[in-house]
Amino acid sequence: MQTYEIAVYPGDGIGPEVTDEAVRVLETVRAQLGGFALNITHLPWGADYYAENGRVAPPDFLDILRPFDAIFLGALGAPDRIPDHITLEPLVRTRQSFDQYACVRPARLFPGVRSPLAVEGSSEVDLVVVRENSEGEYVYCGGRFKVGEPEEFALQTAVHTRRGIERILRFGFELAMTRRQQLTLITKSNAQRYGFVLWDEILEEVREGYPSVKADKQHVDAATMNFVRWPERFDVVVGSNLFGDILSDLGGIIGGGLGLAPSANLNPEREYPSMFEPVHGSAPDIAGQGIANPVAAILSGAMMLEWLGLNAAADRVRQAVEATLSQRVGTPDLGGQLSTRQMTDRIIQNLEAKGN
Ligand code: NAD
Ligand code: IPM
Ligand code: MN
Repeated sequence: MQTYEIAVYPGDGIGPEVTDEAVRVLETVRAQLGGFALNITHLPWGADYYAENGRVAPPDFLDILRPFDAIFLGALGAPDRIPDHITLEPLVRTRQSFDQYACVRPARLFPGVRSPLAVEGSSEVDLVVVRENSEGEYVYCGGRFKVGEPEEFALQTAVHTRRGIERILRFGFELAMTRRQQLTLITKSNAQRYGFVLWDEILEEVREGYPSVKADKQHVDAATMNFVRWPERFDVVVGSNLFGDILSDLGGIIGGGLGLAPSANLNPEREYPSMFEPVHGSAPDIAGQGIANPVAAILSGAMMLEWLGLNAAADRVRQAVEATLSQRVGTPDLGGQLSTRQMTDRIIQNLEAKGN
């Protein structure tokens, strides 16, 4: 029997609340299907760890994470206690150091879920944001100068490499080939004349290899509007690190809410572990109340199962989530009254339902 070593990093705020529930679902589907084991190691890093140790994670945290088959993360950030750029550093470092360059963030409006847009059903919102996750605007390249002086300034330089752009575009085209054969590059080449002109040029090169995929490009400002007025026109959306970040929250909300939006940080070459986490953050405004929606974490768990080659288990989890949502029950963010735990109980009931 194959045993998978899973590092679980629940983090802060609602991170531990939704992670516990996602792990419960993973354990349930494992017990149902058998044939594989998940050996889970909890990593108690984050704001509480900081209070005791003066850092959010041990200095060798990357060495600790490297041997695992996958990393499952809840959410990081305790903004009223610690500045975000400190709590979030392990997350960004893990993505970059483990070359998890493909961040895959599907947004799909499930039957039974209301979108803030006047649309209903997955034919209206069914897109995937593919975010370049290893470079771009997120590299630690820059500095603060003349600190405290009236002339103080900061430099923050984005790095867009030919290799980085090419590989994420290829990843996007390959994904589009398995979907509706459409790809939109998010650009801003009308103002950012170096970085995004390079993105545009590489799109023209890479698309040659995928003649069946209809590819276009949109400036990020127009794309933001088009996500709202024409969500059905998007299939695979490829963007730089920052544009992908912004558009994945927008994708999440038009797909019914951030509480439903999963994500995967993939190292497609499998040289390092990949990492699975909800798109959302630690949601301090609702943390500790037991009302966070666990679905984004649970669907991130399904993405992890699929990445591990456990497709039957992944499908089962997705079907149970869909069945639950179609019963029009949910946590308060979905207009429902269930607690985090009750919502998971409903999903587990559907997982266990005969014939599911
Ligand atoms: P957020 O995603 O935490 O919350 C945005 C809004 O969505 C809030 O109103 C919140 O209540 C709601 N929401 C999010 N997840 C929900 C869920 N599962 N169920 C119900 N409602 C949910 O974004 P924010 O408020 O900008 O950030 C809070 C903290 O999280 C900050 O410290 C930020 O840096 C951090 N953050 C971390 C990650 C991550 O760990 N991957 C991602 C985004 C933000
Ligand atoms: C996300 C988050 C992170 C990001 C932050 C918390 C560093 O917003 O995963 O979407 O910008 O990548
Ligand atoms: Mn984000």
